[in-house]
Amino acid sequence: MEKENETKAEQVVNPWEVSAKGTGKIDYDKLIDQFGCQRLDKSFVDRVFRLTSRTPHIFLRRNVFFAHRDFNEILDAYERGEKFYLYTGRGPSSEALHLGHLVPFMFTKYLQEAFKVPLVIQLTDDEKCMWKNLTVEESKRLARENAKDIIACGFDISRTFIFSDFDYVGGAFYENMVKVAKCVTYNKVVGIFGFTGEDHIGKISFPPVQAVPSFPSSFPHLFSGKDKLRCLIPCAIDQDPYFRMTRDVAPRLGYNKPALIESLFFPALQGETGKMSASDANSAIYVTDSQKDIKYKVNKYAFSGGQDSVENHRKYGANLEVDIPFKYLSFFLDDDEELEHIRKEYGSGRMLTGEVKKRLIDVLTEIVERHRAARAAVTDEMVDAFMAVRPLPNMFN
Ligand code: TRP
Repeated sequence: MEKENETKAEQVVNPWEVSAKGTGKIDYDKLIDQFGCQRLDKSFVDRVFRLTSRTPHIFLRRNVFFAHRDFNEILDAYERGEKFYLYTGRGPSSEALHLGHLVPFMFTKYLQEAFKVPLVIQLTDDEKCMWKNLTVEESKRLARENAKDIIACGFDISRTFIFSDFDYVGGAFYENMVKVAKCVTYNKVVGIFGFTGEDHIGKISFPPVQAVPSFPSSFPHLFSGKDKLRCLIPCAIDQDPYFRMTRDVAPRLGYNKPALIESLFFPALQGETGKMSASDANSAIYVTDSQKDIKYKVNKYAFSGGQDSVENHRKYGANLEVDIPFKYLSFFLDDDEELEHIRKEYGSGRMLTGEVKKRLIDVLTEIVERHRAARAAVTDEMVDAFMAVRPLPNMFN
């Protein structure tokens, strides 16, 4: 934990800030060392393929989920016939989600389907109320709105429980929060999260809220008598500090440490300078953007690694390391062969930026249109049904 402060000046990654000195580009290898997680190598992709008998998700094949903690243990247990549950979440700070927000949910939906396991989704309306200075009412409203976008990703209602902290915290969940809180000193949270004496105590007391969905006993209506059930958390790597803390205290409370599978940040249109900011509408593609918006944003803002003249481009090819259209395609163009083709042709200069952008516009438009249609079909009754505190009798079948 002490190490974090040393490297702070170079690159800062925590739930509230993602930034790097110089180019602004996050050094993910360094982050893995800094955080002490492990790299998710190709052998995991093969293993997931074998265990689930289906093509691993594009985010797994392309290493978008690139780091983990104890994912191998989840797979070992699964191979022995033991089940696990998934836990992910969202802080509802804005109405409109951008594509980066969907990444963990798309992936979680795949994991749920592939492994046939239950899932809990935490909406931290309390967190955003405290950090974004929203009113309680507004945070709760946003939580419900965001729940619709999450449901639109296609989660199976017979295996999914979505809850808002304002509604659900209490009972066994709260008991676990208190147990966690007793194990974590003030110095410790300062080390992990960088709180200062000026932060209000709401912030300092929040981490246990995000920690305890990792423990099955926080959900007696789902996992009663299954205290040893393992938990796997898919998330972007900026959430790691919460779960470092959680993993640290879990054994002292007699619980398993939750396992994690962690993603890169989805880059802004302007280039890789940390994670996309929800406050600059031109830095991201929103799920509410029209085809025209998408076309305009990609053509005008997507940072190109192509050369400044066609001649130079033909000669030197595009710099794919910095090229955003290609990066976005590597997140969302499912066809591996086509992506390989673009890598070769664009990288060698035979293909021009305009062509790659055109392909990207089509790919993104399709995803956004599909999402829009799915979200329009989500009713208030469905939100209530997903958020009802209820048993899920067939959640492992
Ligand atoms: N803190 C997260 C956010 O701001 C929300 C969250 C809660 C979360 N629990 C989680 C994210 C578990 C990933 C995994 O978006």
